[in-house]
Amino acid sequence: RTVYVNGEFLPEEAAKISVFDRGFLFADAVYEVTAVVNGKLVDFNGHYARLVRSCTELGLTLRLDEHALRDIHQRLIVENALQEGGIYLQLTRGNGGDRDFHYPPADTPPTLVLFTQARAVVDHPAASKGIRVVTCPDIRWQRRDIKTVQLLAPCMAKAFAEAQGADDAFLVENGYITEGSSCNCYIVQADNTVVTRPLSNSILHGITRKALVRLAEEHGVTIEERLFTPEEARNAREVFISSATTFVWPVIAVDGQTIGDGKPGPVTLLLRKIYLQML
Ligand code: PDD
Repeated sequence: RTVYVNGEFLPEEAAKISVFDRGFLFADAVYEVTAVVNGKLVDFNGHYARLVRSCTELGLTLRLDEHALRDIHQRLIVENALQEGGIYLQLTRGNGGDRDFHYPPADTPPTLVLFTQARAVVDHPAASKGIRVVTCPDIRWQRRDIKTVQLLAPCMAKAFAEAQGADDAFLVENGYITEGSSCNCYIVQADNTVVTRPLSNSILHGITRKALVRLAEEHGVTIEERLFTPEEARNAREVFISSATTFVWPVIAVDGQTIGDGKPGPVTLLLRKIYLQML
């Protein structure tokens, strides 16, 4: 693969980051994952807007504007002949010169890294088969609206799910589902209303979620933003997730309890279809 590091396009073996990089030492970094379908970026301006917000919240300086950053994404797509998958971007507070908790001077150059990941998105088997999830406590910090790279808690949640023979975990705080380990969560009630947690600092403001809320409204699907419990999820007519890596995936079991008849439900499939039509 050709990757991007601080202004250069290099073979991945040639890319180098300092051992004093604050992204490595302190997870002092933010990231984005933008989907690519047919060689084209999906919702790039949404991801750029969220990156700017993450940077603002942490006092990180993003030295490139939307146009320049889009160009880097596009060049990586071309150089790697990427048809389908995603582009990962990470911006760190740079090399602090030593291991020092204090932020380095504001003029310290940030580290910017991007690379491509080829994978099936449109025809991924999970999109038609669905996934099984288990619930577990949400042990993450309280600013989940900032897309930082401190992802050990989600890694632990995925390992917990895997150990139980499940595909992913839904995280629970104060008795309510916040989100998935790397996705937003939805349940469909008996009246076909889709329920998802309202935006706050407790969840990442998903770019896919934002598009789905808009598309659902346009297609007469009602979305109710409120908290919901694991029990409601286990007893829901349908359950699904969204993210830039999955778009919309049905959930067919929660904590070992089969959802509906164990097959992806009509509201989930409709939302996936209208999302794909928008691309
Ligand atoms: N994860 N919630 C969390 C905790 C996430 O990590 C993600 C995305 C989402 C969905 O956001 P979006 O629709 O903007 O992708 C929600 C990315 C894909 C990842 O970490 O790989």
